[in-house]
Amino acid sequence: MSDTYRSCHSIEGELFFNHLNKVGYCCMLTPNGGQPVLYENYQGELIDWDTFFVRRDEHIELMKKGSSLPACKDCLWIKDAKWDVRKKEFRYVLLNIWVKCNLYCIYCSNHKDKNVLNNTKEYNLIPVIRDMIEKKVLTENTKVDIAGGEATLDSHFNELLFLLIDSGVKNININTNATIFSKSIVEGIKQGVVSLISSVDSGTPKKFEYIKKKNLWNNVWQNISEYSNNINYKINNNSVRTKFIIIPNINSSKSEIFKFILKSKKANVSGVILNIDLHWLRQNYDDKKTMLDVINLTKYFIKIANIFDIDWQIWAHIEDLIKRYNMIEKSSQIDINFIFEKKKAKKTILDKFFF
Ligand SMILES: C[S@@+](CC[C@H](N)C(=O)[O-])C[C@H]1O[C@@H](n2cnc3c(N)ncnc32)[C@H](O)[C@@H]1O
Ligand code: SF4
Ligand code: SF4
Repeated sequence: MSDTYRSCHSIEGELFFNHLNKVGYCCMLTPNGGQPVLYENYQGELIDWDTFFVRRDEHIELMKKGSSLPACKDCLWIKDAKWDVRKKEFRYVLLNIWVKCNLYCIYCSNHKDKNVLNNTKEYNLIPVIRDMIEKKVLTENTKVDIAGGEATLDSHFNELLFLLIDSGVKNININTNATIFSKSIVEGIKQGVVSLISSVDSGTPKKFEYIKKKNLWNNVWQNISEYSNNINYKINNNSVRTKFIIIPNINSSKSEIFKFILKSKKANVSGVILNIDLHWLRQNYDDKKTMLDVINLTKYFIKIANIFDIDWQIWAHIEDLIKRYNMIEKSSQIDINFIFEKKKAKKTILDKFFF
């Protein structure tokens, strides 16, 4: 560990291939715009990593001195902390370059933002990822997250995933709608190096179709079950998770969540995740009643997941709500996406409220 200084976890070791052909340190939206952009109009060209790390160190020096890149100004993630000694190696890489999708989820950030949808040019990541592996900036210790649109639709998807798996990367997470069964995902799950999160957001075929605009309920659960059947419990017992995004007044009934949990249990998933529709959240910060309803739903969700002995996680945004409405007395440090996890919950102040 090094000395304590002012910095943020993203700049210290993360790289984001973002929508709109931008490459940067994060995908945060700060009051000043966020997402400092290192490369614009990026379409998979090889990157000079020595120059990259020199620039990054200059940006960190700015933070140390109490300043920052303009886009980072007032970012909540800047803090004084002891950071791991920086190596020329990324701790985390996000691949979020795709916009094409075969579903039309009513809450989806991609579809809501027409700029993202119309002005992102998809490209082949394989040359740059291969170069990152050769130059050892992406190593077996790097966590790689694959987001979307729907990456499994990309004709290079299997090649990309096998490249990561065969290079020894041990922690690869895929966000997928699970409408397409992928042979590379199942192989990665078998080896214990790939995990997936599938946002089903519904407990009934009717609600599924209403939210996603396609009747693929059976295919999705069949694929999720097949992925679960291949979980390598010796290496990674939490590799197939389903997600429920609460969209107030759309899927926010107890019975919908209850059915979703039952379905997840039947599909033998290793965990369920709960989050809230971020668009709704941004537009309704003052709607205290609905916020409290969401918190109560969260409690219900946790209770039934506990009864069915399913591991659960709640994402930062709901923790944010819980703090905002003083449901917990002390805020926990937000360092990563997952905040409340079943195995850690007993040690938190949540005991007082949830159990
Ligand atoms: C954009 S999707 C891409 C991956 C894949 N197509 C899927 O649906 O999992 C990545 C994740 O962002 C989540 N997401 C999209 N829009 C959201 C929103 N408005 N609020 C919260 N999560 C959202 C999705 O549920 C999904 O888990
Ligand atoms: S300070 Fe905030 S906006 Fe800047 S790189 Fe870090 S997380 Fe991103
Ligand atoms: S499946 Fe994923 S990318 Fe496609 S519309 Fe739904 S959330 Fe968006």
